[in-house]
Amino acid sequence: MDQLAPNHHADYPQFAGPFGYVAGLTMTVGRGRDARLVADMAGLKPTDHVLDLGCGPGTAARMTARGGVRVTGVDPSKPMLALARLLSRFRKPSAEIDWVRSGAENLLVPDDAVTTCWSLASVHHWPDLERGLQEVHRVLSPGGLFLALEKRTQPGAKGNASHGWTADQAKRFASMLAEFEFSNAEVTNHDLGRRKVVVVIAHKAETA
Ligand SMILES: C[S@@+](CC[C@H](N)C(=O)[O-])C[C@H]1O[C@@H](n2cnc3c(N)ncnc32)[C@H](O)[C@@H]1O
Repeated sequence: MDQLAPNHHADYPQFAGPFGYVAGLTMTVGRGRDARLVADMAGLKPTDHVLDLGCGPGTAARMTARGGVRVTGVDPSKPMLALARLLSRFRKPSAEIDWVRSGAENLLVPDDAVTTCWSLASVHHWPDLERGLQEVHRVLSPGGLFLALEKRTQPGAKGNASHGWTADQAKRFASMLAEFEFSNAEVTNHDLGRRKVVVVIAHKAETA
C-alpha cells in the first residue's frame, strides 16, 4: 500500500518570485472544468459565500463570482494573488471577490464566515494538514460544505505527475475529516476530458 500523506508535497518550494508568476500563468489554462465541477457539487445559491482556499490565479473564484456568488480567494503566494487581482480587472466578475494573503493554517477569515470552502489542487501542498482542517472548520458556518479536489495520480508517480492524490491518499484524507468534526465524507472520481480528478466532500455539523 502507498503510504504517502495527503499533504505529500508540503515541502515543495513555495510559489514565490518569478517561478510563482510562471506557475500561476500555467494555472490559468485548463482549470475551468475543476471549477464547474465543484460549483455543481456544491449546488451554489446566490446567498452563498465561497472560500476558494489556495485560489492560485483565481480561475474558480472568478467563475463563481461571475455567477453572482460572493467569493473570498485565499492564497499564501504573493505572485498568485497579484495575478488573480490583475486578471480580475480584465474580466470583471459581477459579485464581490476579496483576495486575502494567508495559508490554510492561519486563515485571516472570521469564524463561521463562509457557507462553502473548496480547495482545488492545493491540499497536497499544505504544510500542516491538521491546523488547516481546524481552520476550515472554524471559518465554515454550521452545515457548511468542504470540498477538496485533486488530480488523480498513480502510486510511485514522480515529478509533475505526482501532484495530486492516489486513491489511497484520497481515502485517508476523507477518513481524517471525522477527527475534525466533519461528517458524511465521501470520495468521488470524475473524468473531465483528459484530466482525471478526485473530490472529497464533507459537511460541518449543523450545530456546534
Ligand atoms: C497547483 S496550485 C492550484 C491553484 C488553483 N487552486 C487552481 O486549481 O488553479 C496550488 C496552490 O496552493 C497554494 N498553497 C500552497 N500552500 C498553501 C497553504 N498552506 N494554504 C493554502 N494554499 C496553499 C499555492 O500557493 C498555489 O496557489
